[in-house]
Amino acid sequence: MSAVDRLAPLLSVPLPSDTGGPFLDLVEGHPGSRGRIQDLWESVGGAGVYDLVLASGERVRDRLPGPPRGLLRDFYAVDRRLELSGGETVLDLACGQGTHTRRLAAAAGPSGLVVGADLSAPMLRRAARAVPADNTVFVRADAMDLPLRDGTVDALCCSLCLHLVPDLDTALAQIARVLRPGGRVALAVPSHGPGPTRWATEVFGRVGQMRVFRRGELADALVRHGFGRVVTRWESVMQIVDATAPAAATPPG
Ligand SMILES: C[S@@+](CC[C@H](N)C(=O)[O-])C[C@H]1O[C@@H](n2cnc3c(N)ncnc32)[C@H](O)[C@@H]1O
Repeated sequence: MSAVDRLAPLLSVPLPSDTGGPFLDLVEGHPGSRGRIQDLWESVGGAGVYDLVLASGERVRDRLPGPPRGLLRDFYAVDRRLELSGGETVLDLACGQGTHTRRLAAAAGPSGLVVGADLSAPMLRRAARAVPADNTVFVRADAMDLPLRDGTVDALCCSLCLHLVPDLDTALAQIARVLRPGGRVALAVPSHGPGPTRWATEVFGRVGQMRVFRRGELADALVRHGFGRVVTRWESVMQIVDATAPAAATPPG
């Protein structure tokens, strides 16, 4: 059975009639500008630049003597926080050009299913070229309104997206909704720099029209949404946090 056939019963929206392209488009039209940085990621040039930056980072990491350390290690390993053993249904939310999707597809194995979801068509085209795995399907979808049925996902990776959504609580409620109770989530978000470097991240956030998280802000939001075992693995200019989905989707309290 193809990955698209396996995805179909998990969808909360009808499967598009054309399933032959690099991704399934499950968003009607365009939601409008979500800020300068997101406008960039939705452009062909921006997707290309991001791809180049990440590939360069991977090359630097691979050439460093000894095992990679710090952010370079932890950012590229966000997906490993899910501790997949094989056979899981995994959502790579905001998959971009597929850096994490590739490793998730390998870890989920042939009996697993990986759904790479993103709002940007240029990113999705790149991801589909980079990850030709049989167990993977790419969809254009919005983190604000995920086109999946409740409790259909075992594990969810969402790296560098939650700073771009118009409402964090809505996106976290959607993540909690699609995860099965106890399912794992691994998240990365940009964070304010420590001490005197904070002015730089303030300016970056304002110019880019995106959120920059305060210390502990993402972990606190996850707790409000009923997530358990919330652990912050890294906190500098990025927060890398993993957690376990609530027993039942809880409205924030
Ligand atoms: C910086 S890239 C990160 C890509 C990848 N996750 C990574 O860590 O390398 C941010 C991605 O988030 C996507 N994105 C932003 N808002 C989104 C939303 N509401 N729903 C789905 N994807 C979104 C963008 O289109 C972009 O591809």
